[in-house]
Amino acid sequence: MTSDHPLCQPSARSDVPPFMVMDVMTAAARLEQAGRHVIHMEVGQPEAPAPATALAAARAALGGSGAALGYTESLGIPSLRRRIARHYEETYGFAVDPATVLVTTGSSGAFVLAFLALLEPGDRVALTAPAYPPYRHILTALGCEPVLIRTGPETRWALTPEALLAAHRETPLKAVLIASPANPTGTMMTEEALTRLVRTAEDAGIAVISDEIYHGLDYAFPATTARAVSGDTVVINSFSKYFCMTGWRVGWIVAPERLVRPMERLHQNLAISVPTLSQIAAEAAFEGRAELEAVKAGYARNRDILMKGLPACGLDRFLPVDGAFYLYADVSGFTPDSHAFARALLEEAGVAVTPGLDFDPVAGHRFVRFSYARAEADMVMAVDRIGRWLKGLG
Ligand SMILES: Cc1ncc(COP(=O)(O)O)c(C=O)c1O
Repeated sequence: MTSDHPLCQPSARSDVPPFMVMDVMTAAARLEQAGRHVIHMEVGQPEAPAPATALAAARAALGGSGAALGYTESLGIPSLRRRIARHYEETYGFAVDPATVLVTTGSSGAFVLAFLALLEPGDRVALTAPAYPPYRHILTALGCEPVLIRTGPETRWALTPEALLAAHRETPLKAVLIASPANPTGTMMTEEALTRLVRTAEDAGIAVISDEIYHGLDYAFPATTARAVSGDTVVINSFSKYFCMTGWRVGWIVAPERLVRPMERLHQNLAISVPTLSQIAAEAAFEGRAELEAVKAGYARNRDILMKGLPACGLDRFLPVDGAFYLYADVSGFTPDSHAFARALLEEAGVAVTPGLDFDPVAGHRFVRFSYARAEADMVMAVDRIGRWLKGLG
């Protein structure tokens, strides 16, 4: 082949949209390089480092000969899998068999494994709109069909059993992916709502995958795990958010027993194992509770600052945020284009937020997402800057 007709062409399946928040981060970095001060409310990651217990365990592992840092079993270090299983006992009050726990490269790696183990190409998977964008992008790349079901403030952005069944009647669904607390809205399903949704899905023959990455970060009421409702669900979680370990890339799946071996075989081939140092640190992170609870208390204060401060600026169209560290505000009173709004807020006021189109290709142009996983002083300064900027617009 000549260079006019190169063989290495991008596949159709690789044509997934970018994750727009990354573009906002790039624009913010450019401003910072030019000497501007930017408050980062676009990034969905804790500012706090991993707990000291995790860092100490990693340092100790590096201090040895390094021999302990080879591959691990594909399913994960056995003591970490046991510790994750114990976490269910401690947090939700029921036992999980460590044999059904798989350690993954963040929840991102878990989605790929779960989707491959559970779905055939062409299978339809229900998601909410808005939702975390990679759900639909990973499904598309794997040849599955994301089915976006519109949600709104009237259901606190939650998928209802009725809406799920209506989509299923149109064309059968193979699975549904739920998240509570949710990104980008920060809302949660009550135990009753989640139970009803899981039971309805299973009765209709729809497999449930539950992304529980924001568990631990609940302010209004405790989050319910889908696993407590049914042992036939696939539950995905991560050390990235509550445990403040985004870059360590460790997550986990609790799977029905019959899916464990297929997932193990897939993981052996796709990744071999999760970085050993990260697994060692993750296990020790469970002992850093006091530090992690202090970080969570900081988010709760930030949440109060925004819930009081933004309405005082005129930004009052958002729901009380139950969990995670996000607030999803309707800015359509100011603009028909939240992307342009986010760009102007960044350039003119030095506050980076994420436009809603990332999360919802249809109605996202009306919304922006604020992340409050930052320092309290930043939140106070952000409210002040936003207030003055909006006054200037008016
Ligand atoms: C809802 C949700 N799920 C999954 C992820 C991926 O996280 P990780 O791969 O770091 O576990 C994120 C990251 O922001 C998220 O918001």
